[in-house]
Amino acid sequence: MKHYLVVSDDTALHARVSEALGEEATELEAWALADAEADGGARITAPIRGKHPDTVILGPDAVAGSFVLADRIATHWPGAALLLVSGADAATLRAAMRAGIRDILDPAEASEVWTETIASARDSARERLSAALLEESTAHAGEEPASQLIVVVSSKGGSGKTTIATNLAVGLATAEPRSTVIVDLDIEFGDVANALRLTPDRWLQDAVFGPARNDTMVLKTFLAEHESGLFAVCAPETPEGASGITAEHVSHLLGQLAHEYRYVVVDTVPGLSEHTLAALEQATDTVYVCGLDVPSIRGLRKEFDVLTELGLRAKREHLVINNADARAGLVVADAESTLGRSADVVIPAHRSVRLSTNEGVPLVQSARRGRIVKPLRQLVELIRTRRGAQQ
Ligand SMILES: Nc1ncnc2c1ncn2[C@@H]1O[C@H](COP(=O)(O)OP(=O)(O)OP(=O)(O)O)[C@@H](O)[C@H]1O
Ligand SMILES: [Mg+2]
Repeated sequence: MKHYLVVSDDTALHARVSEALGEEATELEAWALADAEADGGARITAPIRGKHPDTVILGPDAVAGSFVLADRIATHWPGAALLLVSGADAATLRAAMRAGIRDILDPAEASEVWTETIASARDSARERLSAALLEESTAHAGEEPASQLIVVVSSKGGSGKTTIATNLAVGLATAEPRSTVIVDLDIEFGDVANALRLTPDRWLQDAVFGPARNDTMVLKTFLAEHESGLFAVCAPETPEGASGITAEHVSHLLGQLAHEYRYVVVDTVPGLSEHTLAALEQATDTVYVCGLDVPSIRGLRKEFDVLTELGLRAKREHLVINNADARAGLVVADAESTLGRSADVVIPAHRSVRLSTNEGVPLVQSARRGRIVKPLRQLVELIRTRRGAQQ
């Protein structure tokens, strides 16, 4: 079903679009700018399927000074063809493309050119949407997806998530070249970039807003690359960069990456943020990191309960006891009995870990096979061979 929307206060523009659409003008809905902004923009929040426009035409006044509206439409109606009426300069056009605008209607062009431009933008948007739907239905066909999404979580801060996520990711990337991407979902204070000594020029916000959202080729150019061949989506450089990144952005990004890479490793904040929950919804593997202290063990036990209640236990689960030091009064068996399951990997406390964090060189990159590197490599193999407690 065709359904067009034009957004502008210029009624002459409504008439021009209507003329270009010819008979299909009966499917045209015209909004003034105030309509698009009504209820804080709530009219542009529902999914594309159902009665939502498959083609949206924005007047020059709809993007005057800002592409917020365009970006919002691209986010909430990802299957819509988004066109801009503009005789604009290159800088404006670039900003428009970044906001998800697919084509331009030049006011100086004849009505037939508009008809053709609208039809071709609409057709290519429809092709993209059917490809996405096909992908979705294949994913739901019940078979195990080829890719693995591994989410590293813990109930408490400082338990070793970033250390384990980065070592795991580098281990996977080394074993299978160009197979792995790590995503830093510690969106305000993430330190995957430091742990890998990366100096990215694009960050998480670039991956979730703008053209990367609808175009995986663009997304791939936004990834940082580590010397091991691992790719990375690094957290914003400053906490302000994290503003506006929603759980929905995270789900979409992880879906895109899982389609492209064999392994997607996700580092998270302590506890269960909305972004972590969004990642866990898609996880094939969850790595639980737990320290040998009472708060961590009790916290993780609660986390198991909450995730069970939410139906978010992953297909395979891996329990990693980190920073194990019997001198602190507890032993691995204490944690295992409280958690009701055995540990898959135990990483002792050792100063080389802190050293490696400070130097930004993951331990699995070293040639050593010591008591720290061995359990990290064990975890890599558990993931690769798809072993782990089955839910
Ligand atoms: N097994 C270990 N032995 C000694 N030090 C460790 C060990 N594991 C982690 N550390 C150190 O503990 C600190 C915190 O580790 P890391 O940053 O990986 O934790 P995190 O769970 O990601 O923290 P946050 O919750 O703040 O993100 C780092 O300096 C790291 O080097
Ligand atoms: Mg961390």
